[in-house]
Amino acid sequence: MLIKKPSDIRPSEITSQENYLNRRDFIRAGAIAGGALLAPGAFGALIPEARRAKLDGVTESPFSTTETPNSYDDITTYNNFYEFGTGKNDPVVNARDFKPRPWTITVEGEAEKTGTFEFDDFMKPFDLEERIYRMRCVEAWSMVIPWVGISLADVIKHVQPTSRAKYVAFETLNDPERMPGVRRRVLEWPYREGLTIEEATNPLPILAVGLYGEVLPNQNGAPMRLVVPWKYGFKGIKSIVKIHFSERRPKTSWNMSQPSEYGFYANVNPEVDHPRWSQARERRIGASLFASKQPTLMFNGYGEQVADLYKGLNLTRNF
Ligand code: MTE
Repeated sequence: MLIKKPSDIRPSEITSQENYLNRRDFIRAGAIAGGALLAPGAFGALIPEARRAKLDGVTESPFSTTETPNSYDDITTYNNFYEFGTGKNDPVVNARDFKPRPWTITVEGEAEKTGTFEFDDFMKPFDLEERIYRMRCVEAWSMVIPWVGISLADVIKHVQPTSRAKYVAFETLNDPERMPGVRRRVLEWPYREGLTIEEATNPLPILAVGLYGEVLPNQNGAPMRLVVPWKYGFKGIKSIVKIHFSERRPKTSWNMSQPSEYGFYANVNPEVDHPRWSQARERRIGASLFASKQPTLMFNGYGEQVADLYKGLNLTRNF
């Protein structure tokens, strides 16, 4: 290979930063066939791959709760991620060597800017925010998690759904080679979730790519997972590879598996019990063993921002 020394390079061969950036835009535009997701000029923060890498350019969000976050250990060792096993301590062990790169996100269905995008290209147009959210699991425990992510509403605006798009569906990677839990049919794979377009364009949901200012750990859904703080945790689908816009309500994993126990909406609601247990109270992970359970709040305390989405809907029937 011939490597030119700096003295051999003519000034005309040197690319100015401006041209370099233009060329990168041009290359990116060319690389995205079949409907472009073009970045608007400036580059957003790239998401590093290395474990526990710090994320740059993260701003604070006014939507954050002032409650004290759970410890990094609580958040990363007590997980539900059935692709890596059904025990709470399985994902931290079994996802340890999972490689979340290369990674692509496919946008399809009722939207103008569809296509398959390299993960970093997908992320470039969007701003990274820290959002400290209360999270309530359907199993009646909760945590407070300092996520880092991008606004789902911004992503949706960017890909321009058509007027027929009534729902947004998400799918997790389905790879038995890299995800040992997928070899057992504990759920119908791939893991699927969905929101109405009104829910998805509310300002609260994010696509999380990090926590505690660092890149998202594998067991929490690297490289990108959904976070919807007023819904039970199972709506927070991990390791997303596909975003699909549709006119019809999509199938969702837990609803397919146990329709009488897990509905499509899955809004946190202390008044509607799970068939096998009460949803009125919750155990905060990490709290002292002597601490009593705390009351669960309607819409997990986010009612002011989301209650209007369900005006006139019977929340007992639409659980
Ligand atoms: N996403 C996938 N792909 N597979 C899963 O098994 N479990 C869900 C959700 N997302 C799950 C998933 C459930 S039941 C919960 S409570 C949350 O992830 C847990 O997220 P956390 O481990 O980051 O707290």
